[in-house]
Amino acid sequence: METAAASALVRLEQIPLDRGVALEIGRTSVALFRVGDELHALDDMCPHSGGPLSEGPLEDGCVSCPWHGARFELSSGRSVGEFTCRDVRRHNARRVDEHSFEITLAPRTR
Ligand code: FES
Repeated sequence: METAAASALVRLEQIPLDRGVALEIGRTSVALFRVGDELHALDDMCPHSGGPLSEGPLEDGCVSCPWHGARFELSSGRSVGEFTCRDVRRHNARRVDEHSFEITLAPRTR
């Protein structure tokens, strides 16, 4: 993986199908999740209390925070389920070619 200040190039085969992977882009920790041939990128910091989302279990297109169980949709970052909190920031994952995605940090809104 190559990183620049606000983006990184990621090869799809570096991301397993059954768990997340943490990636530092500049000073931002990003959690990467692979669903088939798609890649999703969220902040690797749960908005509730900072849990590492890259270490959470995946189910039905969502990741659950390993600390207290808040669930987030991978495709939107939206907090879903019974225990909801703020949505998590979602970053842009743009396919570059058959094997690679460029992850670009989304602007902070708060
Ligand atoms: S830190 Fe994620 S649910 Fe509490």
